[in-house]
Amino acid sequence: MSSLLATAVAHPNIAFIKYWGNRSEDLRLPVNGSISMNMDGLITRTTVHFDAGYEKDRLAINEIQVDGKGLDRVVKILEIVRAAAGISLKASVSSTNNFPTGAGIASSAAAFAALAQASVTALGLDWSEAKVSRLARLGSGSASRSVPGGFVEWYLGDSDEACYAETIAPKEHWSLVDCVAIVSSSHKKTGSTEGHLLASTSPLQIARAVDTPRRISLCRQAIFEKDMSKLASILQLDSDMMHSVMMTSTPALFYWQPETMAVMKKVQQWRDEGLQAGYTIDAGPNVHVICEAKKADEVAKLLKKIPGVQKILVSPVGDGVRIEG
Ligand code: DP6
Repeated sequence: MSSLLATAVAHPNIAFIKYWGNRSEDLRLPVNGSISMNMDGLITRTTVHFDAGYEKDRLAINEIQVDGKGLDRVVKILEIVRAAAGISLKASVSSTNNFPTGAGIASSAAAFAALAQASVTALGLDWSEAKVSRLARLGSGSASRSVPGGFVEWYLGDSDEACYAETIAPKEHWSLVDCVAIVSSSHKKTGSTEGHLLASTSPLQIARAVDTPRRISLCRQAIFEKDMSKLASILQLDSDMMHSVMMTSTPALFYWQPETMAVMKKVQQWRDEGLQAGYTIDAGPNVHVICEAKKADEVAKLLKKIPGVQKILVSPVGDGVRIEG
């Protein structure tokens, strides 16, 4: 065999209980477990083509060639699947996103989920979903959560083998949407990978990690019971706790802009007035507002009125990674 090819599509995910900090950087074993939903409508499509004609691995993102650290991260995944399949063919990886990169929507999650699945399938490896999730994790921690569909938990695990993500409820279980209020689409200064390295410098990180099983359990309960008020409380608390760690690390990471705060305050006001929605923010200034689908139009309309909100992306719960064609 001298040419092997597969294309996979995956969605980013938004964490309700967030991953921040690793206990092993190399293996991307997190300090705490996390829970997320996949974001339908936002898509990364990745083709991996192993061919005897390639002299080295190459990577193109949105048709632009990428070298350096970005390519190294991809080669790490390719090396693992090549070793598992017992082949040495180099590969061309081509990935396209239909959403802005580097703006607090974790593009690396969808990218590494799609890369992992396309690589495994191209080489004819018969791997379980959990094994693909572990492979995606080695590229980007949150990518482990974009492999399974719907509502997903990434287990802390006590080893590499036990540290993978799986569906805790299918997308049909609860019609939630993520209304993303875009306040800036410029590239973030400190990406999550560098951020994770700083987490342990915050004196608050230990307290956050120790309390995570409690928040995970409350979040699971809120999802199982479809209790929007409970979910909004726990996801806001979790996001605030992660940002407290970010802001108190050395050097301090401050991702919020004045518009970020303006949205957070409005969402809290709506909740106090009875409109159930909750905010959560990743390593960027944009605000993800989670609510039930029946409230999405109302929430999106209200978000648009807030000065500084440039655009709203509305994303229902999405599927996991899948092979195309
Ligand atoms: C704030 O998975 O992007 O979005 O493993 O270095 O690729 P790497 O980091 P990444 O970190 C995500 C951080 C977060 C929270 C979350 O999605 O859980």
